[in-house]
Amino acid sequence: MELGKSLSATVLLILCMTSSANGGNILVWYTEASHWINMKPVLETLIDRGHQVTVLTPSVSLFMKTNEPSRFRYEPFNVSFSLETIEAFMEEFLQFSIYEMNQMSYLQIYIRFMDMMKTNVQVSLKYLDGVMKSDTTMKKLKEGNYDLLLADPIYPGSDLTAEILGIPLIFSLRFSIANNWERLCGQLPAPPSFVPAAMSKLTDKMNFSERVWNFVFYILQDIVLDNVFWKELDKYYSEVKGTPTSACEMMSTADIWLMRTYWDFDFPRPFLPNFKFVGGIHCRPAKPLPEDMEEFVQSSGNDGIVVFTLGSMVKNITTERANMIASALAQIPQKVLWRYRGEKPKTLGANTRISDWIPQNDLKRMYLQA
Ligand SMILES: *[C@@H]1O[C@H](CO)[C@@H](O)[C@H](O)[C@H]1NC(C)=O
Ligand SMILES: *[C@@H]1O[C@H](CO)[C@@H](O)[C@H](O)[C@H]1NC(C)=O
Ligand SMILES: *[C@@H]1O[C@H](CO)[C@@H](O)[C@H](O)[C@H]1NC(C)=O
Repeated sequence: MELGKSLSATVLLILCMTSSANGGNILVWYTEASHWINMKPVLETLIDRGHQVTVLTPSVSLFMKTNEPSRFRYEPFNVSFSLETIEAFMEEFLQFSIYEMNQMSYLQIYIRFMDMMKTNVQVSLKYLDGVMKSDTTMKKLKEGNYDLLLADPIYPGSDLTAEILGIPLIFSLRFSIANNWERLCGQLPAPPSFVPAAMSKLTDKMNFSERVWNFVFYILQDIVLDNVFWKELDKYYSEVKGTPTSACEMMSTADIWLMRTYWDFDFPRPFLPNFKFVGGIHCRPAKPLPEDMEEFVQSSGNDGIVVFTLGSMVKNITTERANMIASALAQIPQKVLWRYRGEKPKTLGANTRISDWIPQNDLKRMYLQA
């Protein structure tokens, strides 16, 4: 046993050494928004370690820009819709999630959400058409002699492509709704008695009725996803392969799932050996802050600071909503850094500072001091 272990360790070590000497040839699946922002530093590190990185990039994207200077190579492919289509869809989704959802009943939210999921799947499949149905692109991918495919599975089709190219597949994922992909495709166990479904708002401490609700929540989400997501994908995959194919089974062929979280960040749950925690993989050592910002955060003393941002997609909110957020933030003892574009809200407190952009990565030094 021990001998076996050290032998395999030696073999691994040799493999690592040879591969770092030659460098792997890595193909990266297209993605969008924060998923792409998260992926980029990983690609930089792969290049630092001597690998070659090629990124499949759609001709239409909000965040992937082939004209941006970078150390990785882009492999562009054509899609048959315009940037305006994507922008309109994103705008609709944001409107829904920041404003409309608050005034809707559960049923209305559900119906609207289903509707948007359906649109989302159709858009995803149009992206996939750009790869699968383009002889030029498929030929280029085959001739690329890639060693592996790295993909964030939010855009489907990477598993199908990895199979066609005959190369291993590595996923990078934060989570899926009710962990549907991890559970049903990745075979990750999730006993409903103590693993709360993602987005159910439950914790690992549940009484009997909450456990029943958790169990039902998993089933309901699985039914929804089956109807709006998997059915469409199964149809597409079956057409491409020419034989009845389960897209979920294809997803299960991923060799490694890199999970962008950490064991102490989520509730305890069983994991499998090919699921690896990589939360914070995109973080870099903190650089010094600009002088005025350093002064501002230090002036908070023992209260610490709050960093407030609505993520990479929300660019503008209504004046009314901005005033509401500003007056809420004004009531807390901490100093607040708020990433906000737009006119300065009237109700902005003395403890809050707004800016177009905040150096989130460099601010983490503050947590470490706290
Ligand atoms: C994309 O479309 C342009 C313009 O029609 C064409 O020149 C180019 O070769 C296409 N690229 C691919 C990968 O098919
Ligand atoms: C379970 O917990 C919920 C939330 O705390 C509570 O509303 C409910 O009454 C509890 N049910 C039982 C059977 O104890
Ligand atoms: C944000 O800006 C876009 C484009 O200028 C506009 O269409 C949208 O209505 C704005 N949203 C809000 C909430 O003001």
